[in-house]
Amino acid sequence: MQELASLIRYHDHRYYVLDDPEIDDAEYDALFRELWDLEERHPELTDPDSPTRRVGGEASRAFRPFAHSLPMYSLDNAFSLEEWRAFTARLARALPGEDPAFWVDPKLDGLAVEVVYEDGGFVRAGTRGDGVTGEDVSANLRTVRNLPLRLDGRGGESNPAGLPNLLEVRGEVIMRREDFARLNREQADAGRKTFANPRNAAAGSVRQLDPRITAERPLRFYAYGIGLVEWPEGVTGWATQQDILNGLRALGFSVPEHSRLCSDPGDVERHYAKVARLRESLGYEIDGVVAKVDGLDQQRRLGATARAPRWALAWKFPAGQAVTRLLDIQVQVGRTGVLTPVAVLEPVALSGAMVSRATLHNEDEIRAKDLRLGDRVVVQRAGDVIPEVVGPVMEERTGEEHEFVFPHVCPVCATPAVRLPGEAAWRCQNMACPALLRQSLVYFTSKAGLDVEGLGKKWVEILVDKGLIHTPADIFRLREEHLLTLERMGPKLAGNIVTSIAQARDRADLATLIRALGIRHVGAQTARVLADHFPDLDALGRADREALQLLPDIGPEVAASIRGFFTNPVNQRLLDDLRGLGLWPRAGEQERAAGDSDSLFTGKRILFTGTLPDMSRSQAQKLVEQAGGTVVGAISKKVDFVVAGAEAGSKLTKARELGLTVLEGVEFLRMLGQGKSS
Ligand code: IVH
Repeated sequence: MQELASLIRYHDHRYYVLDDPEIDDAEYDALFRELWDLEERHPELTDPDSPTRRVGGEASRAFRPFAHSLPMYSLDNAFSLEEWRAFTARLARALPGEDPAFWVDPKLDGLAVEVVYEDGGFVRAGTRGDGVTGEDVSANLRTVRNLPLRLDGRGGESNPAGLPNLLEVRGEVIMRREDFARLNREQADAGRKTFANPRNAAAGSVRQLDPRITAERPLRFYAYGIGLVEWPEGVTGWATQQDILNGLRALGFSVPEHSRLCSDPGDVERHYAKVARLRESLGYEIDGVVAKVDGLDQQRRLGATARAPRWALAWKFPAGQAVTRLLDIQVQVGRTGVLTPVAVLEPVALSGAMVSRATLHNEDEIRAKDLRLGDRVVVQRAGDVIPEVVGPVMEERTGEEHEFVFPHVCPVCATPAVRLPGEAAWRCQNMACPALLRQSLVYFTSKAGLDVEGLGKKWVEILVDKGLIHTPADIFRLREEHLLTLERMGPKLAGNIVTSIAQARDRADLATLIRALGIRHVGAQTARVLADHFPDLDALGRADREALQLLPDIGPEVAASIRGFFTNPVNQRLLDDLRGLGLWPRAGEQERAAGDSDSLFTGKRILFTGTLPDMSRSQAQKLVEQAGGTVVGAISKKVDFVVAGAEAGSKLTKARELGLTVLEGVEFLRMLGQGKSS
């Protein structure tokens, strides 16, 4: 809890005081929520100064303080339909039988401010700050073009109450998307700091010490509520949230579009869905809707907690979603031959970045989501990683969309692709497929592989495309004169690349090479395990599936993949080539010494069955391999020794039938210790 609290304080400071957040709202909300939940469950451990106990950020010292006459609360959040319904259930308990109506408006993403009017004239404005005291930004707010400095007190049908004597208007200062883009272009051109998003641009502009700078920024104020209000004698004033919004509009304020009165919780749910769909088409950013109990009398009876009113809830949209058009689906071929469909999208802004491509994973996923070319689709950045397509917006189907037919041949080399039973992926199994080659060579030289300095993705792709390299072995045959045939390659760079290739070759240990080969399912961890057990690639290549599965972390799938790699003739040729080129690391000195010494097991196939005395299966296996033998798992005539431990089963019976040499556990240990000659 302390750790969460201090993280939240840190991010609060960055956000409220420095206007320079490091994490996005969704991440912040997740931290806040986690702490909040812990505090709910452990009130006894809750720090009275916890960040959940206060309303907003601290006021910075540069501005005069601005005291709010009524606290400017924050809002509680809901992130799901369940949370929204839990809120309405609480309301139903607090207001039995009243079935309150809700005023629902979009939640604007900007900076909260309060503007005070006396007798219809602007007197001062302040930021929310910590909810009690903010910063006096009167001079800056005066420059905001759509903020009235004199209110229109004519009254009329939509505002029969007319003009209050005192009115504190609350709302959000925002920057429209197009204004934000223009400002950032201008900032960049002038060599000044650009802003991460419209909200930061708005907040940063309001909190300028020089109001002349604020005046040049395209800010807008949208009113969504009020603080203190005082009416002339005999005037009843506003009774509902709807009255307030109508009144504010009549007085001359801009109010959020797409706000409406909802008769019940279900109506709010429908409106939420509608606003969510409209979200990307709005000229400004919103991150949810705010639902407020409409009746002011009901609001008063519900009251507030230390942080937020009980009569309002911010129902947020899921993190980083946007709607755009699915223009095409392209199929890419990866390093392991998997055909991966990729959505080509009309570029759209998604949590601060433009997105034009998103993975679709595989054929089944496209079908399950019922995606059609030309669909309007929802895209999201789950946890701010790779964008993904959530699904089509069915309401926007026109009938013009058409189905995508997944190709059953490799789009690069046109070889028929295969879909193995139980797998979702179609694969190109042509080892010579240019796409596979490109990817596997890029991987081979990358940091995850041999880490050849200077030979990055770009150069490898050029080398493959020019036909200068076809296999990893070709890399070690590259000479400066080959490299110099490439555009933008000079003698110095060519020399450096050749040197670093040689260095990478000499430096590579067995684990690195195994990893670089890019065997499916064999990452750094598994490569290490294999290098710890086998003296070299020959020994690894001889190990059968059963033997491989005796090793830690290696299951049937990984074992099958390793076997598949070593039995493939193309790969066998590659290994021969690598050996010939001097890229043939062996396991560490100790193992090598053991492996080189003549042993009774050198060059022999050994099968274990049952439990050995004093030794685990994998230890025994390692010893055999160090002695130059190969451990196999399947019984056959080709097995030289069967080592039978306690409770040996059917394999022992089979071994006897085949007339194989069977060693008792102790015998085996004794022989391990002996040389051939002894
Ligand atoms: S009502 C007591 N309505 O959200 C309720 N707030 O997370 C006061 N916000 O500080 C807020 N759009 O800056 C309300 N339509 C809207 C809003 C809105 C944006 C902001 C506001 C508030 C923050 C709370």
